[in-house]
Amino acid sequence: MPKLIVVTREGDESPLEAQSGLTVMEIIRDAGIDELLALCGGCCSCATCHVHVDVDWIGKLPVMSDDENDLLDSSDHRVETPRLSCQLPYNDALDGLRVTIAPDD
Ligand code: FES
Repeated sequence: MPKLIVVTREGDESPLEAQSGLTVMEIIRDAGIDELLALCGGCCSCATCHVHVDVDWIGKLPVMSDDENDLLDSSDHRVETPRLSCQLPYNDALDGLRVTIAPDD
């Protein structure tokens, strides 16, 4: 099965089995990694699913919406490759995608 690589805030790296059709947020949440709060459940209104995407992958992801961009602007931890993981539908072409959970705001 394809993998999503997740790095926690403590630096622990886990390869998760990733199913197409779920979002990156759902894959992380379903794996029991509870530091990704995802409070709004994927409605693009909370920014608690913020991740930093490895630079090699950022160009392979869907274009960011204005709403996502605005929410990320509210974070003190925005970096070069930020995304809201609930806005990233996973598919097999993303096998090996690596993201790091952003620090808590
Ligand atoms: S879960 Fe709330 S913005 Fe992603």
